[in-house]
Amino acid sequence: MKLLHLDSSALGANSITREISAAIVKRWQESHADLTVEYRDLDSDPIPHLTGRALAKADQAEADANEAVIQQFLDADVVVIGTPFYNFGIPSTLKAWIDRVAVAGRTFRYTEAGPEGLAGGKRVIIASGRGGIYGDVSPADFQESYLRHVFGFLGVTELEIVRAEGVAYSDQHRSDALAAAHASIRSPLAQAA
Ligand SMILES: Cc1cc2nc3c(=O)[nH]c(=O)nc-3n(C[C@H](O)[C@H](O)[C@H](O)COP(=O)(O)O)c2cc1C
Repeated sequence: MKLLHLDSSALGANSITREISAAIVKRWQESHADLTVEYRDLDSDPIPHLTGRALAKADQAEADANEAVIQQFLDADVVVIGTPFYNFGIPSTLKAWIDRVAVAGRTFRYTEAGPEGLAGGKRVIIASGRGGIYGDVSPADFQESYLRHVFGFLGVTELEIVRAEGVAYSDQHRSDALAAAHASIRSPLAQAA
């Protein structure tokens, strides 16, 4: 079983989404002895923005790296993504990764009946961190709602959110939200059942 772990917070060791995503991965490692984990820190090891040169495959090394990113996503049984809420959306480093994996003919295709996701059969778990409080549904949420939509578009039907929000309100809010997020991490075995 393969797990792909991505982080995108720019706050390094002070990041709550890095803490939560690592806790989720640890739970999976504890319950699946055969698990192999591949990790990419999109902050320290960012993927270049998708440009016209990239689309034209003008640079073979970049095209090869792009192909590796797509294949790594397709191969993963579980994808764990740490993502803060930045300016009502996701960090641009994570968007750059999505721009590389959302590729027609590889992870989705258009048919006469409309779009069809080709990257189903995997579980996606989002470790979400938010300074404010937006809940499950908010017109200001272009982070979790976007991720739900884009992974659904790619064919993912099992997406779970582990959220710590209101962390900017006070130190107490931050520690309470973190504790609640840790407590809400579901057992990988229970999910698989
Ligand atoms: C550049 C930047 C933009 C942010 N924009 C928002 C925002 O629009 N709304 C919000 O509620 N919090 C916002 N925040 C607060 C983060 O969502 C919050 O600190 C979260 O915990 C970050 O996750 P992290 O600790 O893993 O980095 C922003 C933080 C940064 C650094």
